[in-house]
Amino acid sequence: MGTFTVCFLLVSVLVIGTSGTSRTRGTKYEPNWDSIDSRPLPEWYDQVKFGIFIHWGVFSVPSFGSEWFWWYWQGKKVQPYVDFMKRNYPPEFKYQDFAPQFTAEFFDPKEWTDIFAASGAKYIVLTTKHHEGFTLWGSKTSWNWNAVDVGPKRDLVEEMASALRANSDLRLGLYHSLFEWFNPLYKLDAANVFKTNYFPTSKTLPELYELIVKYKPELLWSDGDGNAPDTYWNSTGFLAWLYNDSPVRDTVVTNDRWGYNTICHHGGYYTCNDRYQPGHLIKHKWENCMTIDSKSWGYRRNAPLSDYLTIKQLVASLVETVSCGGNLLLNVGPTHEGRISPIFEERLRQMGQWLKVNGEAIYNTTAWRVQKDNGTANVWYTARPQEKAVFAMFLEWPSNGSMILHDPVVKQGVTQVVLVGHGAVQWEPVQPSGLRALLPPPAFMPGQWAWTLRLTGAT
Ligand SMILES: *[C@@H]1O[C@H](CO)[C@@H](O)[C@H](O)[C@H]1NC(C)=O
Ligand SMILES: *[C@@H]1O[C@H](CO)[C@@H](O)[C@H](O)[C@H]1NC(C)=O
Ligand SMILES: *[C@@H]1O[C@H](CO)[C@@H](O)[C@H](O)[C@H]1NC(C)=O
Ligand SMILES: *[C@@H]1O[C@H](CO)[C@@H](O)[C@H](O)[C@H]1NC(C)=O
Repeated sequence: MGTFTVCFLLVSVLVIGTSGTSRTRGTKYEPNWDSIDSRPLPEWYDQVKFGIFIHWGVFSVPSFGSEWFWWYWQGKKVQPYVDFMKRNYPPEFKYQDFAPQFTAEFFDPKEWTDIFAASGAKYIVLTTKHHEGFTLWGSKTSWNWNAVDVGPKRDLVEEMASALRANSDLRLGLYHSLFEWFNPLYKLDAANVFKTNYFPTSKTLPELYELIVKYKPELLWSDGDGNAPDTYWNSTGFLAWLYNDSPVRDTVVTNDRWGYNTICHHGGYYTCNDRYQPGHLIKHKWENCMTIDSKSWGYRRNAPLSDYLTIKQLVASLVETVSCGGNLLLNVGPTHEGRISPIFEERLRQMGQWLKVNGEAIYNTTAWRVQKDNGTANVWYTARPQEKAVFAMFLEWPSNGSMILHDPVVKQGVTQVVLVGHGAVQWEPVQPSGLRALLPPPAFMPGQWAWTLRLTGAT
């Protein structure tokens, strides 16, 4: 315990002053979870708060139901998927036959970059390989099942990475699935109860090393443990290399999906469940990955308008997530032609409009001592301690023109309240504690969907 504390203090001291990097000279991570989990998360990740997830692959061709199309059709044999194929394709049609139709002829990575940047996001996470196994780059270990050999005949990962770096300050994140539903080597290992590891040694790990060395992502979003333990995937061995010796060892961030039972326990930041929204502060850094189409990550041609979350719902998710210490990773599913549909684009641009006004309550903030107001519904707090500012973001504009905040401890003549995007507002204390802020008439609302009161001189 004593030695551990000393080491920990030493590490903490060394970390200060490395501005955004987490690596401490001399720290060598060992291939075990105690050591891997001791690495401080690179600072940039907590500062940026908001990223865009992109689910794109051969599943974008049928674009029916879900990106799990192949599995639902031929693995689980879910009726609507079986019927869809029966009605629309010849009986001998295989999932692989969709790949040539993954054409990406309208894919313009510069245009995508402009849309992502306009959303106010500071990083993206692109699916380089989902559970179907098709790689969006010319992987050496995915023969004839990759975007360079089949379909677009382009290295989509390279094009996205280059355009992002040339045209924005967004950081590149890559998603990668450890397992593949139907890969024969994975199925062989699974039949051997993961006592053999043909699949990770010949497929998963070479791919992971290739992705890191070739594209130098600053975020690696691992997924799909296939119910196999992390020892089968050699996850700690890979992560020790990633943190000690890889070209991105100083800035790379990872998540927690590295083997059965590692989720929410080990790795970098926690994702826990898809659409994770605990509603209270989580001390370990976490991410809420969710999607604009509430029913699917991949593009769905059969999605009705009512399945798309409204911008008001999306802003509310961002506000609640950041208030509770998380980052929001908001997903869009491009079409097989490479288009981000106008409805996704509109939502992203609206998010950017909201952040343009209210971004100071999101970026570079920390959790405050209270997350949710104890009295007025739909009020969430964040803080910037360095500026001694507390932010109260409210999701409903009160019809009587006054907003009561119960938690801040205020002092007349000291506390100042600003409606962000508008200006200073009058306030009065309320009993037993807190304040009533007098808002301007609705015609003077700064923007839509949610608003921010900035408090200084309050604790
Ligand atoms: C696991 O990863 C480590 C570090 O990269 C490597 O030295 C080791 O050989 C790997 N083990 C297996 C079984 O692949
Ligand atoms: C957040 O802080 C970092 C590091 O100080 C800085 O580079 C960045 O510009 C800040 N971002 C915003 C949006 O204020
Ligand atoms: C929350 O409000 C209730 C009264 O509505 C009060 O009894 C309680 O002490 C408050 N809790 C905190 C933490 O302020
Ligand atoms: C005004 O409305 C809010 C909720 O919308 C309520 O909490 C408050 O008590 C109302 N009345 C006054 C005088 O503020």
